[in-house]
Amino acid sequence: MKIAGHLMLPDPAQAAFGGERVRLAPGWLRIEGGVIAEVVEGDIPDDADAGGTGSVVCPGFIDAHMHLPQFGIIGAHGLGLLDWLERVTFPAEMRWADTDTARRDTRAAVRRMLGAGTTGFAAYATVHAEGARAALDEAQRAGVRAHIGQVLMDRGAPEALCRPAGQLLEEAAALQSAYPTDGRVSAAITPRFAPACSAALLEGAGALARATGALVQTHLAETRAECVLVGELFDGQGYLDVYRAAGLLGPRSVFGHGIYLGGADLSALAESGGAVAHCPLANSFLMSGRLDASGVLASGAGMALGSDIGAGYEVSMVRVARAMLETAGALRISDAGRGPETVPTAAQAWWRITAGNARALHWPDAGRLALGAMADLVLVCPDADTKRTLFTAPTSAVDPLAGLLFGWDDRWIERVLLQGRPAGPIPDE
Ligand code: GUN
Ligand code: ZN
Repeated sequence: MKIAGHLMLPDPAQAAFGGERVRLAPGWLRIEGGVIAEVVEGDIPDDADAGGTGSVVCPGFIDAHMHLPQFGIIGAHGLGLLDWLERVTFPAEMRWADTDTARRDTRAAVRRMLGAGTTGFAAYATVHAEGARAALDEAQRAGVRAHIGQVLMDRGAPEALCRPAGQLLEEAAALQSAYPTDGRVSAAITPRFAPACSAALLEGAGALARATGALVQTHLAETRAECVLVGELFDGQGYLDVYRAAGLLGPRSVFGHGIYLGGADLSALAESGGAVAHCPLANSFLMSGRLDASGVLASGAGMALGSDIGAGYEVSMVRVARAMLETAGALRISDAGRGPETVPTAAQAWWRITAGNARALHWPDAGRLALGAMADLVLVCPDADTKRTLFTAPTSAVDPLAGLLFGWDDRWIERVLLQGRPAGPIPDE
């Protein structure tokens, strides 16, 4: 199969804000056996199987942090994190006691994500082992790439959502056997956050992570109130130190939010090779704060980008990327000392939601249009006006990557390919 258009290619040129970025170049791809077999830069051919002069070929977008059971609570506005969890989120997650509900929710979530061009994601399920297994099964059936974790909680939540640590660790280990780390869909180790986990549960999760090499995902320093609570629950230990003591700080760890980390925390995170998952829309929605993303990157720590559905309210990773730029801009307004390099460019934003997130999720063959990479692709066909101004005008005042980012419309998505094949349709039942 030959797919043609303006190719969104990795561009390793060094710059501020973490360096890497993408560039657009005309050309075509040949796809064979589900992978990219050829990348050719040059004239856009008119005999391709898909795409053409007005099309943009993007790597599938990747969401590094989201919650499958939370689509139904998008928009529960006006609460801070801990109240939102208690009043809105935990009741919604109780629904997954019914495994059919977990299946249906997962199918609907995957359909929404594919509709927005997301072909890979790292997701939280709920505490229900069978619900988590159903989510893994459904993701595999849909053909997406995913890390999905059973949420581990043994305190600090309604009784219906807590389990003894021993039971959770057995269930999580069984899911590891069923969906090992090297699969297209794999089970992630997912202690929800320190306030909902005993030290014994965290330590058990750390041991399982060491034994399996699975992705670890949890929340970290999202709000000030939560940081105070962790200090109270863990004898005054720092939040990241709690995870480190449990063996949960490592190169395969992705920590949601990380707004309230000090310099020593960031250094420890950088040394570990782990990453923060920046969730700018959830951070504004729950009024949690603003992540200094350029500070995280300057420390050498990794940074991924997540929708954090359902505290975040945008499924589209393009709009999440835009929110990252807006947050960086807002920080710059409030601090005159911050230079232009603290605000990412559009080329860097596109890199973050593709190759950058693939790196954080340890998928070396995802998120890039490169030889041998998985053909998880989004074929974008902007409306005629956008095409004319970005691709055919003799000179454009707008960088095409910025024009696409800020003018983005999900209706431009013409086709989503998973391993070279059209995605879906995903039935309701
Ligand atoms: N911290 C613990 N659980 C959650 C969750 O579900 N969403 C967000 N945004 N933060 C959390
Ligand atoms: Zn989250």
